[in-house]
Amino acid sequence: MNKRTALITGATTGIGYQFARIMARNKVDLVLVGGREEVLLEIAIMLYERYGTYVKFIPLDLTHQNLAFVVYNDVVKDGIKIDYLINTAGFGDYGNFHETDWQREKEMINLNVVNLVHFTKLFLSAMVVRGKGRILNVASTAAFQPGPQSAVFHATKAFVLSFSESIANELKDTGVTVTALCPDPSQCGLEAIAEQEVKKMLRKRKLPKDWEVAEFGFHSMIEGKTVAVEGFMNRLFVNVMRFFRNEVPSK
Ligand SMILES: NC(=O)c1ccc[n+]([C@@H]2O[C@H](COP(=O)([O-])OP(=O)(O)OC[C@H]3O[C@@H](n4cnc5c(N)ncnc54)[C@H](OP(=O)(O)O)[C@@H]3O)[C@@H](O)[C@H]2O)c1
Repeated sequence: MNKRTALITGATTGIGYQFARIMARNKVDLVLVGGREEVLLEIAIMLYERYGTYVKFIPLDLTHQNLAFVVYNDVVKDGIKIDYLINTAGFGDYGNFHETDWQREKEMINLNVVNLVHFTKLFLSAMVVRGKGRILNVASTAAFQPGPQSAVFHATKAFVLSFSESIANELKDTGVTVTALCPDPSQCGLEAIAEQEVKKMLRKRKLPKDWEVAEFGFHSMIEGKTVAVEGFMNRLFVNVMRFFRNEVPSK
C-alpha cells in the first residue's frame, strides 16, 4: 500500500468519483464507499490499472444510521490509517415540505448529515493524535440561504457548513483541517434537479464540470481552507448573503 489513504463516500459518480481519480493520481490509496458494488469494483480495477492504487471498497446504503461505524470497524480491522476523509455522498429533493415524502427526507438527513457527522467523529480523533489529517465535507451554495421547495436539502447543507466551520475552529494548531466545499450546481448535478424551471434557468449559465469542482475542492483541502466556494460569482453571492444575514435582523 502507499503511505497515505483517503476515505471517500459517494465515490461511484459525480464529484466523489472525481475525488477518487485525483487522489489516485496523487499516489494516495483509497477506501471507497458508495451504493453500487459493481460500479465500485469497476472503479477499483480502473484505478489500480491506471495508477497502481490500492483500493478497498465498501458498498453500503448510507441512508441508514450507524453504518459509518461498520466502515470504521472494517478499516481498523485492516490496519488502515485514514489521512484524508472526504464526505461526498448526498442527495437533494424538490417540493413543498407539506407535500414531500418523509421517508425520503429522513434518508436524506441520515445521508447528508447523520452519517457525515459520524464519519467525522470516528476518524477525527486518530488524526488529532497523529497531528495531521484533512477532512473535506461537501456542502453546497445552498448552505448559505433557506431554499423554499428544497427546505430539507438546504437545511442539511447549512448544517454541514456550520458543523465544518465550528470544528475547523476547534482544530486550530492541531495539524488537522476541515474544509466545507460549497459547489453550485455542476453540469452533472443539473441532471438530478427535478424542477424544470430551475433546470431551464441553470442551463443558461456556464456550469462547471464535476472534475473542476473536485480539483478546486482538492486544492482547498490541501491548503487547509475552511470554506471553499467554487467560482468568483458564487463567492460574491455567498459573501453578500452572509453579510445581509448578519446585518439585517429577521422580523
Ligand atoms: N453536483 C452538483 O451540482 C452539486 C451541487 C451542490 C452540492 N452538491 C453535493 O455534492 C455531493 C456530490 O454530488 P454529485 O452531484 O456529484 O452526486 P451524484 O453524482 O448524485 O453522486 C452521489 C454519490 O453519493 C452516493 N450515494 C447516494 N445515495 C447513497 C446512499 N444511500 N448510500 C451510499 N451512497 C450513496 C452515490 O452512490 P450510488 O450512486 O452508487 O448509490 C454517488 O456515489 C452531494 O453531497 C451533493 O449534495 C452537488
